[in-house]
Amino acid sequence: MIPVAGDGVIYMQFHMPTKIIFGCGVLTQLNSVVKDMNASTLLLVTDRGILASGIADPIISHLNTSFHVEVFDAVEPNPKSTTINTGGEIVRSLQPDLIIGLGGGSSLDAAKAIALLATNAGPIEDYEGRQKYRNRPLPMIAIPTTCGTGSEVTWVSVITDVRRHFKMSIKGPEMFPGVALLDPDVLLSLPQPLIASTGMDALTHAIEAYTVIPRTSITDVLALRAIALILGSLLTVYKNPHQKEGRESMMLGSTLAGMAFGNSDVGAVHCIAETIGGLYDVPHGVANSMFLPVVMEYNLPVSEERYAYIARLLGNTDDDNTAAAKALIQKIRSLSRELHIPPFSSLAISEDDFPEIARRSVQNNSNDSNPRKVDTQGYMEILRSATR
Ligand SMILES: [Fe+2]
Repeated sequence: MIPVAGDGVIYMQFHMPTKIIFGCGVLTQLNSVVKDMNASTLLLVTDRGILASGIADPIISHLNTSFHVEVFDAVEPNPKSTTINTGGEIVRSLQPDLIIGLGGGSSLDAAKAIALLATNAGPIEDYEGRQKYRNRPLPMIAIPTTCGTGSEVTWVSVITDVRRHFKMSIKGPEMFPGVALLDPDVLLSLPQPLIASTGMDALTHAIEAYTVIPRTSITDVLALRAIALILGSLLTVYKNPHQKEGRESMMLGSTLAGMAFGNSDVGAVHCIAETIGGLYDVPHGVANSMFLPVVMEYNLPVSEERYAYIARLLGNTDDDNTAAAKALIQKIRSLSRELHIPPFSSLAISEDDFPEIARRSVQNNSNDSNPRKVDTQGYMEILRSATR
């Protein structure tokens, strides 16, 4: 029998206060959403790639008709503490009423961190951990332009501390965006490699949320629906983003996965992917894809029943749990190949670095949530399997 609350949970909790507005073309509603939030001066946090793509042009010019808008476009992949602290100086001198995060996970996480620095003194490094801030961050609207982050519905911001080459988690219940505007049409202009990597990030969120120790029946429902939506649409959207139903499924699946892991957790895939992202600046979704099937194999002794359940939900008719679970892992491996995501070996990371990667992965806040205990030896095993 599957327990109602997760293995480590006594009282089940679910918290997600963000208002979600979803649908193709919904970005045209942004001005009225801003008005409803009684804002007049806005800071839009994004990256130069988004500005260069032209996706932000109609948004900014429409906002400019009613509000004073400043743009901070210095966010990079795996956003750095130095960049956030620069954004903090800008936001403190501008004193806006509202932050808008526009972009992938990096821009949304950066927007959350800058919203925090707007109302709290000092550098972002001072706020690593849970609810370390004194004052409530500025209100925020999150507009994801990828299909993977989930950041629009979570309370966490992941920022790379450049001194330690370490990804810090900064979180608290006041850090949820007030509104998430989800427009599946943004996927029409998302480059193919980003559809692949962010889509695999979303799939990783859903699978880890469904199997980690703090899972609950509420997160299970969200995670299972997310897995079905993502696995049913990712390859279609990758090949043809003009297929409207596929775009909607991917965008919704990504957000449901965010709601799931935001209230359960992620596991060893994210622990190792965040380590590798911090050390070698590998895109988050690519790093997750490299390790998802390998970590699933590692977790098989304790997660087989759940993997088999997912496989059957997707149509597998095998009665044997081991066979069904392995078929799911194989399906994910094939998907990653069809999406042209490079293997871990392509990073050419020296085996001499593995002990340090393993050590840092164990230190990740989510390590204890992984369904099977992973120590440094466990991560060494995972790293060696990923190179094969
Ligand atoms: Fe992720």
